[in-house]
Amino acid sequence: MRRILLGVCGGIAAYKAAALTSFLVQRGDRVDVILTEGAQQFIGPLTFASLTRNPVLTSLWDAPETIPHISLVRAADVLAIVPATANLIAKLARGVADDLLTNAALAARIPIVVAPAMNDAMYEHPATRENLSVLEARGVTIVEPGVGFLAERENGIGRLAEQDAIVAAIDGVLGRARDLEGERVLITAGPTREAIDPVRFLSNASTGTMGIELAREALARGAEVDLVLGPTPVVPPQGAHTVRVTSAQEMHDAALSRFGEADIAIAAAAVADWRPVETFAQKVKKQDGTGSLEVVRTPDVLAALGERKDGAFLVGFAAETEALEQNARAKLRAKHLDTIAVNDVSREGSGFGTGENELVLLWGEAGRRPLGRASKRELARRMWNALLEIRSAR
Ligand code: CTP
Repeated sequence: MRRILLGVCGGIAAYKAAALTSFLVQRGDRVDVILTEGAQQFIGPLTFASLTRNPVLTSLWDAPETIPHISLVRAADVLAIVPATANLIAKLARGVADDLLTNAALAARIPIVVAPAMNDAMYEHPATRENLSVLEARGVTIVEPGVGFLAERENGIGRLAEQDAIVAAIDGVLGRARDLEGERVLITAGPTREAIDPVRFLSNASTGTMGIELAREALARGAEVDLVLGPTPVVPPQGAHTVRVTSAQEMHDAALSRFGEADIAIAAAAVADWRPVETFAQKVKKQDGTGSLEVVRTPDVLAALGERKDGAFLVGFAAETEALEQNARAKLRAKHLDTIAVNDVSREGSGFGTGENELVLLWGEAGRRPLGRASKRELARRMWNALLEIRSAR
């Protein structure tokens, strides 16, 4: 039996937590409920006690001899907070522990799922956005609220996600296999910058999101993760050993020095292919007329890993706009890869800087597995499933 610890905060959507509880209990889960003080303004403990047939806890001081905030999270498989208010999210982000739910959350070594519900202005406030991204970087699963009718009789974002989406998120974290336990994964991600002078550089539009999602998923599956990350504002997951680099040469050196330990390496970085022959120590003054910049090739990080490969499973990406699979198979061979993920960057909404992508995996002579089109987070999940299958069939 799976044990779900359900935290309910004060918001009008609190009544939906009762329907969720009923659903979970009916399908055979054990549910323990913590109500915050705010939640009790909207819905009472009796409702949840009747649904779960378990005592409902509302205070740190209810049964102090059981140390409830510790015993509850130790016994549970997942902590789901539905609905989560802006205040609760802010407290989680900062580690504030001033009631039973926030103490339990701080003591939790189990996965946490948070389903926010609030007024649209509160949801869109930079403070809330920042707090949610802190939680995400820490590995908390956020179930995005939907757009719809809010309590203020307006339409806006902030409406608690549909029950199906919340259940899917809970099942997602519960069902996620620890199939990378004991393995070491090396991932390169993000762009590189090749300096022209102190204020100018050659680079590209990569945000590193795909590689960061692959790292996040690998961590959730139990891997030790080395993430070699180029310049990006996207926050990497906290559990990874992240090495920040700027240039292709730095990425090359950082990746190679960690490759010996790796069981699996994935090159998701969009490395700049060229760097200026000369980097000027002072800012270059503009001149009239045409100019030119002499460039040389940067090291190919992935090719260097391929040359030194000794048992590790090596995965690359290919960004293509034409003859996708033919070009990608050529890269697969040339760089001694075990699998390559092909990305059609000519399609709208695919590739750099977008939340979504569409990938096809290619391996061996004819191995081919389309992963479909999805968010980069979902694609990371599908990609790890597929990579582990491909590796075990080798
Ligand atoms: N790669 C790398 N170091 C480089 C260039 C690329 O590690 N200097 C890796 C990327 O991380 C990616 C793969 O190699 O995994 C991409 O290969 P590349 O041959 O550069 O192909 P594309 O970027 O797809 O572009 P092009 O067709 O221009 O070669």
